[in-house]
Amino acid sequence: MVRIKSFFSHVFKGWAEALDKPSKSNILKKDIPFPFWPLAALIFLGVLTALAAEFGFEENFIAGAGLFALIWLYTAFSLIKSEKEMNPSKILLSGLVIVSSVLVTQFAKSREISMYFVFTPAAVSLLNFLVSRRVAESAALLISLIVSFIYLGNFEVFFISFVGGLGAISFPRRIIKRSDIFLNALSIFVFLLAANLALALLGLHGGNLIYDGIRAPFLVSAATFIFIISFFPLFEWVFNLTSDVRLIELGDFNHPLLKKLMIEAPGTYHHSLMVAALAEAAAASIKCNSLLARVGAYYHDVGKIGKAQYFIENQLEGNVHETLKPEMSALVILSHVKEGVKLAAEAGVDDCVLDFIAQHHGTTIVQYFFRKAAVSGGANDEAVYRYPGPLPQTRETAIVMLADSVEAACRSIEDPSFEKIKDTVHKIINNYFATGQLNECPITLENIQKIGDVFTKTLISIHHIRLDYSGADKPSADKQQ
Ligand SMILES: [Fe+2]
Ligand SMILES: [Fe+2]
Repeated sequence: MVRIKSFFSHVFKGWAEALDKPSKSNILKKDIPFPFWPLAALIFLGVLTALAAEFGFEENFIAGAGLFALIWLYTAFSLIKSEKEMNPSKILLSGLVIVSSVLVTQFAKSREISMYFVFTPAAVSLLNFLVSRRVAESAALLISLIVSFIYLGNFEVFFISFVGGLGAISFPRRIIKRSDIFLNALSIFVFLLAANLALALLGLHGGNLIYDGIRAPFLVSAATFIFIISFFPLFEWVFNLTSDVRLIELGDFNHPLLKKLMIEAPGTYHHSLMVAALAEAAAASIKCNSLLARVGAYYHDVGKIGKAQYFIENQLEGNVHETLKPEMSALVILSHVKEGVKLAAEAGVDDCVLDFIAQHHGTTIVQYFFRKAAVSGGANDEAVYRYPGPLPQTRETAIVMLADSVEAACRSIEDPSFEKIKDTVHKIINNYFATGQLNECPITLENIQKIGDVFTKTLISIHHIRLDYSGADKPSADKQQ
């Protein structure tokens, strides 16, 4: 009894915690709180039902189907567990898509629809564009395994389903334009055609080559195209996932919030563009999401809208802080993080971009005013000058944090040179590392080294520094390209 009680309290604890998470007002605009165990049970039942419906409801078949479903479930979760950037919505979507495609296949078979009409490519495409390539790869294998069981261990249908899934993730790698959805359908068609041809040449094709080998691939790829173009935005919205297409939309300078930033805080707007250039290049160098880093950088300081004159990059004449106490100045400066999250959430900006606003200062101290207070002999409570955090949780947010600081520091260097920029970049990065600001994100020392090199190279080109190969500013050979 105690065990049952602790099982249920464990299951529902996760649910309650997820429901407690603060989020925007729209219930659909948050990670869907679905605990792990009920989802696992739902997937297990889905797979079991599909197999039992095919093999029959006799005890030995049910036991066999149950064992297969357990092995399959274990494989599915161990494959998905290794994916770093999964959240509850992504796990739920992956589970539902896989179970739905299995049930649809079972239904199609019961209606005697040809086995060459596979549903795997549509499911895999959706997961590739909304979850991740790795999860989509796993789904191609997992769905094909069950499909072959539904067709009583037929290798032909396993091969066609798996190759169709591979076609769905092979080209293009990312959906950025609408034409990419068409290219994706074309890739599925070519892969399915090749699979059918290979089976026919090997004498393993059991169907008619014209009807099943050409017509079926064409209809499957056309159906996938229609499915993705019609339902992609719906899935994105319901599951609160941000695709590349959505990121491109958010990165458009006609977005009302970016326009407002440009008009009300032109200095901050320019600074954000520089941070975006640095962050994009650094993210690309360590193979993380450079588009997300760029868009996150555009929005990181939107909280300065409305109080632009309190920030140095927007001060054309006079410094408003001269008449303020350091504590008051710090209060205004610190508030731009909270204010930014509020403004961006109200403007409908996605959660993954709000993270950049919330995390771009981590728990650092507003040093300038902290020292000013110390010099003037006032009360010197560190907590008053400290950003509330949280610390960066992803490599992309960590990069924007570093790029933000590096850009601001290098702008104030007098007579910038290669050595001065390189020293500044390394001092700043080392300081963030040493003070533990990078402790909660999965960044490696190798990543940090590469990010520092890319920042230096990019800043040198931004500041139009001519490298003096004969003098003290001579860089090492690997920096000369
Ligand atoms: Fe900031
Ligand atoms: Fe900034």
